[in-house]
Amino acid sequence: MTDLALRESTEIQGDVLAGFKKDHAQLLFLKFDDATRARTWLRRLKPRIATTRQVAAFNAAFSEARRNTGGDDPRALHAVWRSVSFTHGGIRTLTGKDPFPDTVEGTTQHAFKQGSAVRAGMLGDTGDDSPENWLFGDSNAQPVHAVLTVAADKVEDLREALAQERQEASVHKVVIVFEQDGGTLAGDRRGKEHFGFKDGISEPAVEGFDLPDPENPGWKKGSPGTRIIPAGEFVIGEETVEGTPSDLPDWAKNGSFHVVRRPGQDVPGWWAQIGARLKELKSAKAVPPEATAEWLAARMVGRWRSGTPVAKCPHAGMSSDPEAATDNNISYANDL
Ligand code: HEM
Repeated sequence: MTDLALRESTEIQGDVLAGFKKDHAQLLFLKFDDATRARTWLRRLKPRIATTRQVAAFNAAFSEARRNTGGDDPRALHAVWRSVSFTHGGIRTLTGKDPFPDTVEGTTQHAFKQGSAVRAGMLGDTGDDSPENWLFGDSNAQPVHAVLTVAADKVEDLREALAQERQEASVHKVVIVFEQDGGTLAGDRRGKEHFGFKDGISEPAVEGFDLPDPENPGWKKGSPGTRIIPAGEFVIGEETVEGTPSDLPDWAKNGSFHVVRRPGQDVPGWWAQIGARLKELKSAKAVPPEATAEWLAARMVGRWRSGTPVAKCPHAGMSSDPEAATDNNISYANDL
């Protein structure tokens, strides 16, 4: 029997291995104005934090119910999940000491300690994208100490949970520096990224969390093309690809790193580029004469809007195979 012990973890927060996968979500960027009250805030928040065990069980029941109804979301199954992460400054404020006093350049701890504003140049966050134009996390603005994620299936549940979190924050002198809506797009665009393409198809499977395919060990059962990755690539303290234990301290065990970036997508600009490039390619006779903007855009992404891979379905975005939209058993090297 394969051991899927990580599915039962009550030490790893939800949304690390078991994704929240909610239509409605909000990120609250927080600053602690009073260390003692912030510690009380955290103690009270702890029982509201979703564990991997809760989220994994919910997601399994949800998928099962969806299969039984032929793909509809089961309305009777709904939940509200919360997770929390801290910046270096946040941990320092809560504990009263530097969590990583001696860091070595080039290590994860060092990057975490420096924070994203100091490292902006390395990531190409310059010019319009430089920290002085950020909505949060800029070193000149209010510091961010924690990020609280709240996610729900029903919009009214999210609203109620947010009201509770705003109240809890306010009584404990936890300032909400910024709030980011993290919900899916509305209507037909649900589950799609802003250019209009199905998102969230390729997700890595995790050893000790996802069942391997008995025919093809190393790959996830029921999801051809999805490789199983050692859990240590996501969770501190577990085995990594290189097999080496993490050099992070014991208290960080079962933790993870939460990256928050706020990229902009210039949707009209992107589609205008597709149109302009298509014209050039057509006059250079580099593409078939019947090629459309959709045709070229699909080749830029490697998938049609529906998610169907170009490598398997070069001529149309809709395949008669219902699994095509989530097909991962492809190589982008074979795009036609
Ligand atoms: C505006 C920004 C982005 C857009 C529009 C975008 C769009 C997409 C789309 C449409 C897919 C295919 C659907 C899927 O597999 O979920 C995809 C896959 C993927 N994206 Fe992005 N993405 C963006 C940013 C990023 C960033 C910042 C990263 C990594 C840091 C990333 C990493 C990936 C990976 C690893 C895949 C899976 C590729 C595979 O099938 O092997 N993407 N993206």
